[in-house]
Amino acid sequence: MAHQSVPVGKMKILDTDFVRRQFPAFQHPETGQWAYFENAGGSYVPQSVIDHLTRFMVEAKVQPYGNSHPSTVARTMMEGSIIRMSEMINADHSEVLVGHCTTMNVYMLSRALGSWIRPGDEIIVSNQEHEANANDWHRLAENGVSVIEWKMNPETADLEVEALEKLLSRRTRLVCMTHSSNIVGSANDVKRVAELVHAKGGLLMVDGVSYAPNHSIDVKALEADFYVLSLYKTYGPHLGLLYVKKQHHDMLSNQYFKFLSAYKDAHSDPGAPNFLRIALNPGGANHEEAACLSGITDYYDRVFHHHFPELSETSKIDTFQRIEKVFDLFQNHLTRLSEIFLDYLQSNQRIRLIGKNVADSTVRSPTFSFTIAGEMSKQDLVAELAARKIAIASGNFYAWRCLAGIGIDPDEGVLRASFVHYNTEDEVRHLCSSLKEII
Ligand SMILES: Cc1ncc(COP(=O)(O)O)c(C=O)c1O
Repeated sequence: MAHQSVPVGKMKILDTDFVRRQFPAFQHPETGQWAYFENAGGSYVPQSVIDHLTRFMVEAKVQPYGNSHPSTVARTMMEGSIIRMSEMINADHSEVLVGHCTTMNVYMLSRALGSWIRPGDEIIVSNQEHEANANDWHRLAENGVSVIEWKMNPETADLEVEALEKLLSRRTRLVCMTHSSNIVGSANDVKRVAELVHAKGGLLMVDGVSYAPNHSIDVKALEADFYVLSLYKTYGPHLGLLYVKKQHHDMLSNQYFKFLSAYKDAHSDPGAPNFLRIALNPGGANHEEAACLSGITDYYDRVFHHHFPELSETSKIDTFQRIEKVFDLFQNHLTRLSEIFLDYLQSNQRIRLIGKNVADSTVRSPTFSFTIAGEMSKQDLVAELAARKIAIASGNFYAWRCLAGIGIDPDEGVLRASFVHYNTEDEVRHLCSSLKEII
């Protein structure tokens, strides 16, 4: 197959044929026929993830940390995944936990921080959140914590830093925000918020679930204290990743068996079940799913080597830098898809787009929520598109505070089309022409 990655000026173009060949879903006789635009709800997985999963199930499906061959392979695969996941977000391996999902990771974190956040303390929670990064923080009010809402601008749906500045004080222990809302899409300025929050002595918790599928994440550069993302939306199995900055590990209280606290400093091997993982993830991660996570970074590596053969041999470029280059390619491609879709949305007066009318995917994630004035129900529209093998979705996507905050009834919800890098221009054009016909 010809190498289709051609330089345009300095920027290369993503070879979507190559990318799609990595995902068996596109070769499936039925699934492969669909134009899939519900990626914000979960993405397809590449062959590399499936290969690791198969290997674990065949060769290593036993209790890890023993001396037998299967047991050592299990351990090596699971620890390898933790290392690769930490490299993926530029964290230390001891700072990363693989849990059931983001909702569960935030729930556990809120409980483990329960004795650090005391009655009378303040927490600020944005109203742009998916409920996973709101509900458990609001629930701390039951312990006497004062929970303050950082409200979006109801006209623009922007989460304005100036509004936060008015709420911050020396009493602020924690600020909880989304990197990019699963409804609004705009990329929020996490680094700026981190600076402001830290200046007051507080900590920052960031929901990166909607941001992570389309952007590289450098938790160190962002200066986040806690960061979550859902691995099943970033081309992996149904798991969630939690980052907790090392210096905060000591303030976590153990949510697992009490006697395990004694092992607080016992495990320092990369990827071993250290205190963070013990304390916050009772029962541990799903082994086979944890073991296949390195398939995600293997996939990014394949994309890197395909597009940057001239850099492949150099040892000066590490895993994270390779991932950054890969996501630059993704973003360039996604900006083009966004332009096509936004042009269509703008062309119809009955359509109200939520959030910024900006295609640049470094400024706005390619997740587009919209409403359409008129008689047709959202469910009927989604069904009509499904009849054409186009998948979009409708609902409130558990972001009901966010919808209420911009004057949309959460029970009514919105329509949502969300792209990732394996979507093509042809697919987006097909979506636009189908919408044109149906509406
Ligand atoms: C922005 C956002 N945050 C959090 C979540 C919750 O993630 P999980 O399903 O891993 O619990 C979702 C899920 O859709 C989401 O879109």
